[in-house]
Amino acid sequence: MAPPLLEIRNLTVAFDTPAGRVHAVNDLSYTLNEGETLGVVGESGSGKSVHVLAMLGLLPSPPAKILSGEVLFQGRDLLKLPEAQLRELRGGQIGMVFQDPMSSLNPVLTVGRQLREVIERHSDLRGAKAEARATELLDLVGIPNPGARLKQYPHEFSGGMRQRVMIAIGLSCNPKLLIADEATTALDVTVQAQILDLVRDLKDRLGTTVIWITHDMGVVAELADTIQVMYGGRIMERGPVRAVFRQPHSAYTWGLLRSLPDEGARAQRRLYQIPGAPPDMANPPAGDPFAPRNPYATDRCRTEVPPLRPASPVPGHMVAAWYDLPARLAAEAAHG
Ligand SMILES: Nc1ncnc2c1ncn2[C@@H]1O[C@H](COP(=O)(O)OP(=O)(O)OP(=O)(O)O)[C@@H](O)[C@H]1O
Ligand SMILES: [Mg+2]
Repeated sequence: MAPPLLEIRNLTVAFDTPAGRVHAVNDLSYTLNEGETLGVVGESGSGKSVHVLAMLGLLPSPPAKILSGEVLFQGRDLLKLPEAQLRELRGGQIGMVFQDPMSSLNPVLTVGRQLREVIERHSDLRGAKAEARATELLDLVGIPNPGARLKQYPHEFSGGMRQRVMIAIGLSCNPKLLIADEATTALDVTVQAQILDLVRDLKDRLGTTVIWITHDMGVVAELADTIQVMYGGRIMERGPVRAVFRQPHSAYTWGLLRSLPDEGARAQRRLYQIPGAPPDMANPPAGDPFAPRNPYATDRCRTEVPPLRPASPVPGHMVAAWYDLPARLAAEAAHG
């Protein structure tokens, strides 16, 4: 079997703030195989963005500190790579699309110039050929009249169009790994569907591996092979999308999925709100971070962090839980 494209081992990231040390990512480990699409979900503050920013060397330090870990991309540890080589990878072999395109696009350069710069930096295309590629990319992400649009500045684009430009930039060099963080959140449903088609097409044609961070379970169901549910900077559950959706083993995943069949939730395409507040990561709970909000938590959950363990006979289905959720739910159902 081919080695994984990406292997994260024991990544721990903290921020030193006036309020104390914020434990954003805690002992995170996972692997991603070539061609796999990983959907990462979890409430605000669960460490989704910080873990990808950390692996790309994009966290400001201070306040960020990578306390431990390795991030092996094609066997090379990104955390040890000189900045010049990382810069080479970012936008080249690793494409990125982040939320907030206004801060990612340069307001004083035309959109065409910015696209061409990325293309020229990471490919052999120059001049008219780079220009043609830029036009093709804008067309691909559904921007009408791309030739004229290339001459315009970011402020002349609508928010949704700027987001599509960011997606075009992320895809411009046919990356081996595409990392998208809330890439389609600001877009209306039709455009979002177009973008997802585009990504699927890229995967089919080039075997692109994808990390797709989102609050939208519908997108995960449509796009991802594997779902990874994060909470308090940890993985709570991970596995093939269908297996996890059919029978979640973490009470947190269960909470997120519970009301999805509900009409209103589907219309809003947002996660169900689980009662209670996310943990204060400057002062995280001692055990399972979700224990304070978990009706199925045991004493052990409140004192000891559960390791990831196989959750079900489905290969790759893992859960971090001391309790047996399906058994607890079945017992409840039996008692009516
Ligand atoms: N620059 C920073 N300084 C201090 N703390 C930070 C900084 N950036 C992130 N954090 C903290 O790190 C933790 C993880 O944040 P992260 O941005 O990864 O969350 P997220 O899962 O991406 O949330 P969202 O869904 O809102 O994007 C949070 O507690 C956040 O407050
Ligand atoms: Mg985020």
